[in-house]
Amino acid sequence: MARLLQFLLSWLLFIVVTFFVVTAALYGIIILAAAGFVQGGPSMHAIRIHQFGGPEVLGLDDLPVPEPGPGEARVRIEASGLNFIDIYQRTGAYRGALPLTLGQEAAGVVDSAGPDVAEVKAGDRVVYASVLGAYAQYALVPAWRLAPLPPGVSSQQAAAVMLQGLTAHYLTRSAYPLRAGETALVHAAAGGVGQLLVQVCKHLGARVIGTVSNDAKAQVARERGADEVILYTQVDFESEVKRLTGGQGVDVVYDSVGKDTFDKSLNCLRPRGYLVLYGQSSGAVAPLDPQVLNAKGSLFLTRPTLGHYTATRDELRARANDLFEWMRAGRLKVTIDKTLPLAQAAEAHRYLQSRQAMGKVLLIP
Ligand SMILES: NC(=O)c1ccc[n+]([C@@H]2O[C@H](COP(=O)([O-])OP(=O)(O)OC[C@H]3O[C@@H](n4cnc5c(N)ncnc54)[C@H](OP(=O)(O)O)[C@@H]3O)[C@@H](O)[C@H]2O)c1
Repeated sequence: MARLLQFLLSWLLFIVVTFFVVTAALYGIIILAAAGFVQGGPSMHAIRIHQFGGPEVLGLDDLPVPEPGPGEARVRIEASGLNFIDIYQRTGAYRGALPLTLGQEAAGVVDSAGPDVAEVKAGDRVVYASVLGAYAQYALVPAWRLAPLPPGVSSQQAAAVMLQGLTAHYLTRSAYPLRAGETALVHAAAGGVGQLLVQVCKHLGARVIGTVSNDAKAQVARERGADEVILYTQVDFESEVKRLTGGQGVDVVYDSVGKDTFDKSLNCLRPRGYLVLYGQSSGAVAPLDPQVLNAKGSLFLTRPTLGHYTATRDELRARANDLFEWMRAGRLKVTIDKTLPLAQAAEAHRYLQSRQAMGKVLLIP
């Protein structure tokens, strides 16, 4: 009888101790989860900024893999493209809400589609631009913004061409529709957009005058098809353009440099010519009195942005289809200058900002 009692007491003790241990463990997990140390579900790496600043503010964070909502697809990213706008967003020149996952362009595979998504399905290879959050292993993207990758185009090629190629497309087809026989001045002609822009202008039958900062870039601009190349760090590009056009001026200037080139770009135009100011890699242009456009020859000035020229799925798809067709036909050469692991985003930013890049810089998650 005593042994039975002893046995039952041991069991009772065991059950009570187990109850307390399990309860304590559960409370521990709940407290850690509330403090953010434990996350439910799978996690991913993403490059985020928690404050605006230099490349050092780019940090590798662990985040939950996001779930797609209505109309969204989740893309498993294989390559993310760097663009100058990423630098503006990192420094706060263009301000987003913090913390912010940078990156506007990527290619990869649809991993999961949310409700009401008809455009894509899991397993599709896709590319997109102009959606924030691409410096990550996964991103949520409005499904209408995804373009399918044709066979034979790698994720790296697609991420290298999408944003800058769409830009070259709308600048030459829509912002100022360039015609055969016209002359275009393309600044930073060996840069990411610049190299693509030179090629597209040449396909359209235009004469292209490119500007670059050094001899190596001059060589690249010529290889992409520029008829004339001016080293604008050594030569006054305004007088050189006037000389090359017999004093007439050019029909259009595609200017991505901004502060350092803007005034002289206006002076390079023929009467009623177009200045398409699409970037500011040297800094923002000062405010302008519209009377200046009158005095310099009834000029046109536009400050376009890609989002307004890819505003619908049809427009986006038509431009992307052209790009992929030009690549397939060997008419558009896409140059990948540097490929770095996602974790080295700060180094990639330093490189792009240093003015050394001659083509696309990619991050690989
Ligand atoms: N509006 C739009 O829709 C749109 C779309 C895409 C890009 N953009 C803009 O277009 C510009 C070019 O973009 P990208 O990605 O193709 O860059 P990128 O051309 O690869 O790089 C910028 C180039 O600008 C030139 N540059 C002149 N002054 C500079 C300075 N102070 N610091 C750095 N670079 C300087 C450099 O060429 P040199 O050394 O030969 O001078 C450099 O290679 C950016 O301003 C970007 O925001 C606008």
